[in-house]
Amino acid sequence: VIVLVGFMGAGKTTVGRHLARKMGLPFVDSDASIEARAMIRIPEYFAAYGEAAFRDIERQVVTEILDGPEAVVALGGGALGDPSTISALSWANVVYLEVDYGEARRRVGPGFDRPMLGVSDPKALYEERAVVYRNVANLTVNTNGVTPETVADQIVDMITGAQEDTEGIERIVVPLGGRSYPVLVGSDILGRAGELIPETPHAEKAFIVTHPSISQSVPPLVSSLKERGLAVNVIPVPEGEGSKSLTVAGRIYDELAVSNAHRHDLMVSFGGGVISDLAGFVGSTYARGMRVVHVPTTLLGQADAAIGGKTGLDLTHGKNLVGTIYQPVAVICDVDLLAELPAEELTSGLAEVAKYGFIADPSVLDILESRATDIGARDPQVLTDLVARSASIKASIVASDETDQGARHVLNYGHTFGHAIEKAAGFEGVRHGEAVALGMMAAAHLAQELGRVGDEIVELHRAVLGSLGLPVTANLEFSALEEAWMRDKKYKDGVRFVLLADVGKPETDVEAPRSAVVRAVERLRS
Ligand SMILES: NC(=O)c1ccc[n+]([C@@H]2O[C@H](COP(=O)([O-])OP(=O)(O)OC[C@H]3O[C@@H](n4cnc5c(N)ncnc54)[C@H](O)[C@@H]3O)[C@@H](O)[C@H]2O)c1
Repeated sequence: VIVLVGFMGAGKTTVGRHLARKMGLPFVDSDASIEARAMIRIPEYFAAYGEAAFRDIERQVVTEILDGPEAVVALGGGALGDPSTISALSWANVVYLEVDYGEARRRVGPGFDRPMLGVSDPKALYEERAVVYRNVANLTVNTNGVTPETVADQIVDMITGAQEDTEGIERIVVPLGGRSYPVLVGSDILGRAGELIPETPHAEKAFIVTHPSISQSVPPLVSSLKERGLAVNVIPVPEGEGSKSLTVAGRIYDELAVSNAHRHDLMVSFGGGVISDLAGFVGSTYARGMRVVHVPTTLLGQADAAIGGKTGLDLTHGKNLVGTIYQPVAVICDVDLLAELPAEELTSGLAEVAKYGFIADPSVLDILESRATDIGARDPQVLTDLVARSASIKASIVASDETDQGARHVLNYGHTFGHAIEKAAGFEGVRHGEAVALGMMAAAHLAQELGRVGDEIVELHRAVLGSLGLPVTANLEFSALEEAWMRDKKYKDGVRFVLLADVGKPETDVEAPRSAVVRAVERLRS
């Protein structure tokens, strides 16, 4: 929750409305909520029942608002006179909108005689409250001579940690209210990580989890975190999915404990999706949650895995069976790190990027098709563009469904078939990205079988995925896929697909007759 405090005339309501729109959150005005509850205007309430009764009802309403869903809240000017309201604010992002006394008087005009200003010395009240606002707030913005819209922009920047000197860096915000965070994408930005991460008060140490094989790229990150004043520890873990285990997580917990890590410290992942899932999980649980920063080094990590807060460990019984949803404080994507990424890992990431194109943004598909050669050559400009577009699509999907209740399921496009293809192959001989590409092809065939899309959509899949060097045909046995679905608990109530009605128009939970799925798999053969 973001709470705006300040004297009357500071612009809490107007700034609050702009801010709520920019952050994709509802706006709540505590005074309006009190009037709705009391069914009487505040000045009349004051006149009839006095200040003590008003503060009682105000405390109840404000506590309920703060316990409610994420929102931007404009708090009545005198609400901080109540200590229990102040303590209820300890989890909120409190922003003090500062305004000079004369300016407040001018802005409010004749209405300056609202309830509390019936006091004999309004200037003294103003000064007394200014001290409280400043003490309670974590951020202060001066509003004198600034438009409400600009004030709202400044707050967004402060909350999401934007820096002034970020020319050439694409900045996407994952809008989750007070827990919003930036995804910064660019070329040669690793050495600036320390300055790009938003304020992290009381942090003393940073723990970087990485693989030995990519540790030669880690020094700029280490130096920049040191320049931020942090003591840096590098924790290497073995390569591969096997590191997403309770055993490896346990080793990291021990290292953290021995180094006296505390919850204000930074857990930094430096690697692909394996590392961000593992370090994200450990960071989300150690000391009940440290601050996590992801610095993904694979395309899959930058475009997908590091954004959205899902963490995971595998058990022998299955992948990602242990996990949390825990948002990082920042994601920093230096596309130059992708220069040495093995070609098959790049291609695997491109399948997920294509997925964003199919479910949300046809311009991503245009870029993939027309710039395939530049992408293969790791051109930093085109990679920055693709990662930023992917991050922005993922950010908005995550914001609409942080805990994976429904809207986020569109991210599974191609994955229902894809998982079954991987499973049927015993996770050998077919890479994840290849399975997803075939999965999207199969989903396109199925959508056409069901009369949802025409030939052109199937051909578009073939053209885009083919230009990236991803497979578009496969000789699969339907029975093997069916068996894989049957064995998976996820599909106990029947297999459901994400299918397109058009590019950018995915529909989730689509049931399909078995015969249509059989035909879609047959059509995948040519
Ligand atoms: N949390 C999520 O939302 C989410 C989403 C998708 C996938 N995932 C998870 O991500 C994992 C797969 O991630 P991945 O594909 O990034 O694989 P990965 O993390 O295993 O990395 C692939 C390989 O590339 C190497 N590598 C990494 N960066 C490199 C670089 N810059 N240069 C050269 N080599 C480099 C790694 O050492 C590794 O061997 C899976 O465990 C999957 O479950 C999570």
